[in-house]
Amino acid sequence: MQCGYCTPGMVMTAIELLETNPSPSDDEIRRAITGNLCRCTGYTKQVTAIRSAADAMKGGSS
Ligand code: FES
Repeated sequence: MQCGYCTPGMVMTAIELLETNPSPSDDEIRRAITGNLCRCTGYTKQVTAIRSAADAMKGGSS
């Protein structure tokens, strides 16, 4: 993350995604965050963070 402007929307989207799909693929994560514009990044960090959160919620490590 850089400026953080997109962070609230990303977090809310990630919560809904992981509540409905606890093991999303990277493509599913990218589709889920499509409506959240980030002007600073290429979305790689967000996808990695959501995948890490999914692993943590399952009790695994990232
Ligand atoms: S980190 Fe700046 S808009 Fe996403």
